[in-house]
Amino acid sequence: NWSMDDFIDQQIQKIRETVGDKKVLLGLSGGVDSSVVGVLLHKAIGTQLTSIFVDHGLLRKNEADQVMDSLKGKFGLNIIKVDAQKRFLDKLAGVTDPEKKRKIIGNEFIQVFNDEAQKLDGIDFLAQGTLYTDVIESGTSTAQTIKSHHNVGGLPEDMHFKLIEPLRTLFKDETRELGEKLGMPHELVWRQPFPGPGLGIRVIGEVTEEKLQIVRDSDWVLRDEIAKNGLDEKIWQYFTVLPGIRSVGVMGDGRTYDYTIGIRAVTSIDGMTADFAKIPWDVLQKISVRIVNEVDHVNRVVYDITSKPPATIEWE
Ligand code: XMP
Repeated sequence: NWSMDDFIDQQIQKIRETVGDKKVLLGLSGGVDSSVVGVLLHKAIGTQLTSIFVDHGLLRKNEADQVMDSLKGKFGLNIIKVDAQKRFLDKLAGVTDPEKKRKIIGNEFIQVFNDEAQKLDGIDFLAQGTLYTDVIESGTSTAQTIKSHHNVGGLPEDMHFKLIEPLRTLFKDETRELGEKLGMPHELVWRQPFPGPGLGIRVIGEVTEEKLQIVRDSDWVLRDEIAKNGLDEKIWQYFTVLPGIRSVGVMGDGRTYDYTIGIRAVTSIDGMTADFAKIPWDVLQKISVRIVNEVDHVNRVVYDITSKPPATIEWE
């Protein structure tokens, strides 16, 4: 008779026994898994938990504030927020290759995280939001395997943490149920998947502050309309991309030469395969009108109607 309430009680007791009076470090990504781990650990050991939240400047609009307001403001977690936008933008300057961009963002992320972690004294444990699916994917002995596709990657050789992974036996839907039981807000618990490199791979080619702004603002309009039309739990992932091409348009009685925004929205079970979402025309029309009206430097909106395969979900 497995129940989520029992699970919470058991885990809290287990965490307290394991940690004793020692200290735990957690890397928050803003995603569901690490947030749930944070709230659970906070419930178990309170101020013995310190979290680091790296804002790489590639998050969605309001995302960093939401995480801070909720986890720090409402739940009272002790979070060190690192504003590292400039560091990431500097490293990304002039880089256009998608895999290079991923590597740079991943490496920089680890460095920023480690720089902060080194400043802390007397940490014995590192908590991670490893799920059962991650355990399966990376084979049996995963105690030291850090999710490389996720935000918090490897550790430096000279830092010897013991791992705490309270979600190791849970699937994603159970993790969400746990989050809801812990009283976490709906938008955090039901967040759509968001890649570690964030908006950095949704600005095609070189990432600049101006382009990030365009993709961030258009993404916000898209999400707003999807939510207002009750589609947010029906579509697996939805976002905008900035391909970087410009085209001719007319606005008022003037000619424009501005950017095109692509809308990507897919239904999927696990991200391995996907179909483009059949968003009703009238909703698409509203999204298109709003993006062109509300986002500077955009005069055209296109809808990606390819499935995966042959296309991938992200454009890079
Ligand atoms: P693709 O584009 O490969 O995406 O069809 C499948 C799923 O994976 C996400 N994705 C990533 N997640 N780091 C991540 O953490 C990455 O580099 C990355 N690339 C793609 C994508 O958002 C989708 O959910």
